Amino acid sequence: MKETQFSIKITEYSNKTELEKVDNTLANEAYSICDNAYAPYSKFKVGAAVLLKNGKIITGTNQENAAYPSGLCAERTALFYANSKYPDIPVIAIAIAAKNNGVFTELPVSPCGSCRQVIIETETRFKTPVKIIMLGSNKISIIENAKSLLPLSFNENDIL
Ligand code: THU
Repeated sequence: MKETQFSIKITEYSNKTELEKVDNTLANEAYSICDNAYAPYSKFKVGAAVLLKNGKIITGTNQENAAYPSGLCAERTALFYANSKYPDIPVIAIAIAAKNNGVFTELPVSPCGSCRQVIIETETRFKTPVKIIMLGSNKISIIENAKSLLPLSFNENDIL
């Protein structure tokens, strides 16, 4: 018998002025793109800003659909676009913010399981950790990579 435990390091800040400059810039992009979300059903407008190694920032928002499962989260909208437009440039960070009924959430927005899986694929693809900046108006949480957010994730070795 063997037991394995996972631990996760979360760095918390009380507001975005405490962030390092590059993270602060990315946070601002995530905050300001929220209004572009198409979320007529949930009224939960999510904005994601992805930072590439070449300094470019790609933003995305959630896109809902009357056929609910056909919609897509903001994180994947941004990441898929970034990886489509710049297939050779590693992603180094993603910032996520959301407005619930027009008001920024107090708690940091945490990526859903499917988005975590996609961020991990990006980390694996570019052999580069993706810093996750989860924004809330009362608290900001930063995690250094997606792997720690989704232990035992399905990966390329599982389909060999
Ligand atoms: N959503 C995101 O875009 N990202 C997340 O991290 C959580 C959830 C979207 C999906 C749906 O359009 C709405 O938020 C409510 O779940």
